[in-house]
Amino acid sequence: MGTDAINQTLGLAQKLNIFGDESWQERLVSPLFDTETRTEIKLELLFEGIDFTDQTVLDVGAGNGIYSLFAVCAGADRIVALEPAGDGSNGINVNGVRTVAESVETIEVVSEPLQNFKSNEQFDIVIMRNVINHLDEDATRDLLTDPTAHQRYQDIFGHLGDLTADDATIVITDSSRNNYLRFLGERNPFIGSRDWPIHQAPEVWATLLSHQGFAVRDIRWRSTLSLLGPVGKRLFSNRLVSHLTSSNFILIMDRMRSDDRMIGESSPDE
Ligand SMILES: C[S@@+](CC[C@H](N)C(=O)[O-])C[C@H]1O[C@@H](n2cnc3c(N)ncnc32)[C@H](O)[C@@H]1O
Repeated sequence: MGTDAINQTLGLAQKLNIFGDESWQERLVSPLFDTETRTEIKLELLFEGIDFTDQTVLDVGAGNGIYSLFAVCAGADRIVALEPAGDGSNGINVNGVRTVAESVETIEVVSEPLQNFKSNEQFDIVIMRNVINHLDEDATRDLLTDPTAHQRYQDIFGHLGDLTADDATIVITDSSRNNYLRFLGERNPFIGSRDWPIHQAPEVWATLLSHQGFAVRDIRWRSTLSLLGPVGKRLFSNRLVSHLTSSNFILIMDRMRSDDRMIGESSPDE
């Protein structure tokens, strides 16, 4: 993947001083590898196989702006970064994306939640890194059991569907609530005090989004240990290690062309 784009992103991020919102679990590996190395690995795992050239990008819950910045460096035409400082923004440098946008004119920051964001644009790539479950945390909790919660996400994804182009790609990350060491609670050093009920497995999100015409391209797994340099990335980015540590997944979905879509409703028990 674009090593030049990653290097450029890291150089600009350092210059603009937007780093600084890593979790303590990630910092656990810091004596061995610095923030830049860990960010490099995150970018590689996240965007492998995604071509940003001449694309328009919606970065939902843009945080410190590093992913919008990468999109620019990888050749995107224009980025709209939504950052409402909403749920999940504790400890996140949400001003980072504003600092980035002051220096990069192709990034526009909008302080609205996705649900309220109105646009006539249809984006080619949507980035939702660690944000999908925060869009409506209460609904995430009961997504599989409560039809109302289920409908709330159907509505959000219906709106997202209106904002995406034919053939659009969506990159989603979250932690699955399925974790082999979940019973350890706070005693698990890779996880700490994670609020598991506000997370869902990738298949749950994929099923909901399939009703908006999105089809799964890939589900990849990552763990805190993936950030232990290139060897860590190679050895520990798999389903088993992920389920024993942080349960991080990367879900890549592509939108089918409108002629091929069968948009429909789903029910929680699907
Ligand atoms: C855990 S942070 C992730 C930030 C960034 N994407 C990253 O990976 O570093 C969750 C982000 O989602 C944003 N957020 C919460 N609710 C949102 C909503 N309804 N629409 C858009 N963004 C939202 C928060 O403001 C926060 O920045």
